[in-house]
Amino acid sequence: MDIPRRGFISKGTVLAAAAAAGAGAVTAPAAAQPLQEIQNQSTVPEGFAADGRPSAVKRIRIINLLDLEEEAGKILPVTDFSYIRSGSGSEWTKQENRDVYDRVQIEPQPLSGTGAVDLSTTIFGQRLSMPIFIPPMGSQGVAHISMEVGTATGAKAMDVLMISSHVSSNSVEQIAEAGNPHRWFQIYFPQDRGYASEIIHRAKAAGNRAIVATVDDQVAYPREQNMRAALSSAAQARRGAPRGTMGPGNASITIKDPVLAVRARAKKVDVTFEDLVWIKKETGLPVIVKGIVSPKVAQAVIAHGLDGVYVSNHGGRALDTMPGTLTALPRIADAVKGKVPIIFDGGVRRGTDVFKALALGADLVGCGRPIFYGLALGGSLGVQSVLEHLRQTLTLTMQLAGTPHVKAITRDYITRPI
Ligand code: FNR
Repeated sequence: MDIPRRGFISKGTVLAAAAAAGAGAVTAPAAAQPLQEIQNQSTVPEGFAADGRPSAVKRIRIINLLDLEEEAGKILPVTDFSYIRSGSGSEWTKQENRDVYDRVQIEPQPLSGTGAVDLSTTIFGQRLSMPIFIPPMGSQGVAHISMEVGTATGAKAMDVLMISSHVSSNSVEQIAEAGNPHRWFQIYFPQDRGYASEIIHRAKAAGNRAIVATVDDQVAYPREQNMRAALSSAAQARRGAPRGTMGPGNASITIKDPVLAVRARAKKVDVTFEDLVWIKKETGLPVIVKGIVSPKVAQAVIAHGLDGVYVSNHGGRALDTMPGTLTALPRIADAVKGKVPIIFDGGVRRGTDVFKALALGADLVGCGRPIFYGLALGGSLGVQSVLEHLRQTLTLTMQLAGTPHVKAITRDYITRPI
């Protein structure tokens, strides 16, 4: 095997593999190189666009998803990498999201005769190939020139749900064109009702089957790593470093004045249940509330007639010292009592993590940052590789635990509740 010439892949953990699906053979990685070298070159290296953003579309071979962070960090500008990697404050919550998986153990039940396992699941009448989905993540243009369309193409190939962010680089209409039928739209409720109306109706017209209202980040808690990166980025800018695309793909198409358009899109800080009920009335679509770690708020979601509870702490990017999401999950499942679906994310990196979340009450489990890194490292095929890895590791976990299908994964397979 031809090991990359320029040290892009240092540990052999992530290798560009055969582009053809199922080809089996691992080929030499496409040439790629550290950002600093790219900036110092007069010609654009293979695998990068003229503005320095990654452009390669290739499978990546993955040993585990945690490895992807380091590899993505080698090819992204520091500000863009920090934007993806960072948590808020001391990053306690971000770390706790991961640590809590280590405190929960799976108790397999062998001799159950489980052979092949069925990962498919259904939510709001949509049949999905597996209970793993892509959570909303804004500004994917910083990672790859294909932006959210690349991610949606990977999601389509794997027949999984993708939730597209309000603050995407591509518009909701462009994302729809990628042809993945399983798509929901995430909104940060904006200050301007007119714009809110425009964007939810555009999302519906573009074929999104549910609206996810994120309520945990209406004001930004400082992300210290981002702030540090911004300082070093000022120095980078002086050297002419390439910048990603923080694109407002969902800018208003009806408000023509650019200043008013930006104002209209600003988040409504004092958002209430009334705003979310209004979304449901306007669109007739299911409304799922994202950013819940409190059983009391989960019950209020149901009491207001909303359709789903999304347990999340924004990947540890909102209020620091919120509990890890797996810690919050069983209490919320007890409060919800199966009345509405529970969507879940936070720190999910392995099939065993997905299994634990399903066992403790989640119906769908999201994996965030590794998808972003997969996009950077291999475009749509990189995203597909991440999803394949999760699928394989969940399949193995279910076989070894003795659960033939998703509904069979219950608390009986966890040694003790957390
Ligand atoms: C996010 N997340 C997020 N959530 C949301 O509702 N709207 C958004 O636009 C974004 N944007 C965003 C950007 C980036 C770079 C990240 C990493 C995350 C939060 C996201 O939906 C999800 O809750 C977390 O990413 C899950 O945690 P992990 O899997 O990244 O640990």
